[in-house]
Formats: sequence, structure tokens, C-alpha cells
Amino acid sequence: MEDGIMGCKYFPTSRVQRLNCLAGRDEEIETLAANIKSKTWTALTGSKFTGKTLLVKSVAEYLRKTEGYVTLYVDVKTAGNFERLVETAYRKAPMTVKRRMELFLFRKSLDVTNRSSFKAQETLPPQILFWKLLTTLPEQSVVVLDNVHVLGRETALLTGVLWDALNEKGSRKHLPGLIVTGPTPQAVLHFLNPSEIGWGSVDISKGTHFVGREFGHVHLAPWSDEFSRRYLYEGLAECGVSPSMREVAHVAEVSGGLPAVLSFYGRFRCRGYPRDRILSMIDGRLFSQVRREIRDIIKERFPKKNTSLFKALSLYARGVSIREASHRTGVSRQTVYEMLRTLIEWGYLNEGYGFVSPAYARAVMKLR
Ligand SMILES: Nc1ncnc2c1ncn2[C@@H]1O[C@H](COP(=O)(O)OP(=O)(O)O)[C@@H](O)[C@H]1O
Ligand SMILES: [Mg+2]
Repeated sequence: MEDGIMGCKYFPTSRVQRLNCLAGRDEEIETLAANIKSKTWTALTGSKFTGKTLLVKSVAEYLRKTEGYVTLYVDVKTAGNFERLVETAYRKAPMTVKRRMELFLFRKSLDVTNRSSFKAQETLPPQILFWKLLTTLPEQSVVVLDNVHVLGRETALLTGVLWDALNEKGSRKHLPGLIVTGPTPQAVLHFLNPSEIGWGSVDISKGTHFVGREFGHVHLAPWSDEFSRRYLYEGLAECGVSPSMREVAHVAEVSGGLPAVLSFYGRFRCRGYPRDRILSMIDGRLFSQVRREIRDIIKERFPKKNTSLFKALSLYARGVSIREASHRTGVSRQTVYEMLRTLIEWGYLNEGYGFVSPAYARAVMKLR
């Protein structure tokens, strides 16, 4: 039962899954697993609800089970900043690794209160602790930093540590595999596109070139309408529901190809929930998360104009032109464009200012 009601071939939850429970990501699974093994550090990008977290956790777990990999997963968004990222990583590290680090930590005369928790001290920069952790983990390890983009300026602290660890070990072969995730390539540009002499703003010794150390890249797009329909249809049939073509087409449209929406619908439909009820749950539990994140993004970036911008965005999602949305809300067209460009960086819109998934448009129509 661990994998859910149908042995999880369809409609998995967000918990770690067997790889055959992940639909439509065969290539991405292969690439991630191969990159972890070959120590090709990799950025996994994809908009919200495309399945990054589930994919990366499930691949790591697969390697743990089949090949004994040590896996270390940190959601940087939950951690909130670099220091807490490091604390979390240390807390989750295997006991054997912590033991090996202890001597080093004692030497630095630190307060190691007990073996399972470590209180970061002002005397020990988190960079040092993380560097020690990376260089102590066994070679067959993988570190996952989910939502690494939330580090913002602190990204340089992380890339600096990576650089130091690489310099010490001489090659990535002797370091853990590394997967970082974020919504778009722009959001993880420091990893995908290190400058010629280092990563981002990291200060490295002059003249040392860093070419050829770029990250690999795997991108998750929403599913096509056809794939979404087929997935839903087959999954529902598997649990004994025989949906009409109309239902399948409607739900695929609402989902905009987002696996999170399709699996959510499928799970509850298989449990016998009424269709309308599930659709309103999708709005209340999933689309509300999109609205919340977009609200936070806009508030932080445009503190003074946020309410008018929410309105402008909801108009835009309903098909109103930028010019008209600007006119109706009294926000300058330039500011509306700036907001839309911010949302491009966050993976909600594509370069052509269209919504990456129609589901995001549906979600923000209700923004206020
Ligand atoms: N490949 C997949 N096949 C089926 N359902 C999936 C797949 N990937 C994700 N899901 C569903 O989507 C939900 C959200 O995925 P998640 O990994 O949290 O997305 P992200 O991290 O990109 O926001 C999961 O809980 C699961 O229900
Ligand atoms: Mg995620």
C-alpha cells in the first residue's frame, strides 16, 4: 500500500515513488541518473507543478536502493537561506559522515552539542561546514538542492564552496553528484553559465579559468494535451472509473498539462469524489499556491503597486491586452511589462509573454 491505491502506476502523490510510477519522464530519468553517476552536476528546471521534486527525489532513492548511494536532499525554499541550508544538510547527513567530520569540527573548537544536531556558531562560517560536508561525503553520494534559486545573492556563497571543494579534490569524480533545481534556466544561470573565471560573482584566484565546468541541464515541460488525456484516461480506467471523453478533455484542459493537477484529479476521482468537488479542490489547494507565490513575487518586486498589478495580471490572464490592462488599472505599460518579465523568470510565462501552462492563466484570473 505504500505506493497508494493503485500500486501507483498512475497518479502518484508527492512522496518518493518507484520510477515506473512517474509518467512521461523516461528520458529525464535516464539523464538524471546518468549525470549523478558520472558526476555531471546538473540543473533541473521546470515551472511549478511540472514534477521536479518528485523526479529528483525518486531518482535519488532509486540509486540509494539499487547501488547504495548516500542521498542528501535539502529544500532550499524551506530552509530559507544559506546558513539554514547548511544546517539542514548537516543534520540529514549519515552518522558515519558526521563522525568523520567531528574531529575537524572539534579542532575548530566548535560546539558540537550532540551527534545528530549541530548549532552553527558565529565562529564557523556555514561555508566551511558545507565545504567539509561535501568533501567528506563518500564518492557514491548525491546532494539535491531543491529550489536553489531562492538563495538569490547568497548563491555566490554556495558556488564559492563548490569551487573550493573542486579545487581541493581536483575533480568532481571525488565529490558527490549534485542536482540543483529552479523554475527556469535564468533562475539558475549562475550554475548553467559560469563566467570564464568563476561562478557568478565568486571571487577566485586570478587567471584560473573555469571553462568546461558548466552544469548539465534537464528541463521539464508541461505535458501535451494529447498525453494528458491519455494519461488521465488510462489511469482512471485502471482504477475502474470509465470517464467520458468530455470529462477527460475538460480536465486535461484545466490541468494545462501539469502533472500535479492531473494526478491530483485522478487520485480523488479514483476514490469516488464528485467531479465538481475535485475541480474546486484543485483551485483551493493547487491554484491557490500559484496565486500565493505570484502575489509574493509581485509584492516583493513592486511593493507600492501590488494591488493594481494583481488586477492587471488577472485581466491579462483573461485575454485583455497589455495596453488595455494598463489603462484600466492606471499602472504604466512599462510597469506591466516589467511584472510580466519577472514572471518569465519565475517560469509562469514564456519568452513570448504567453502562459507556460493555461493552468497558470486560470489560476491568476482569480488574483486580487
Ligand atoms: N511524472 C509524473 N507522473 C505523474 N504525476 C506526477 C509526475 N510528476 C509529478 N507528478 C505529480 O505532481 C505533483 C507535484 O510534483 P512536484 O514534483 O512537487 O512538482 P514541482 O517540484 O515541479 O513543483 C506530485 O505530487 C505528483 O502528484
Ligand atoms: Mg518542487
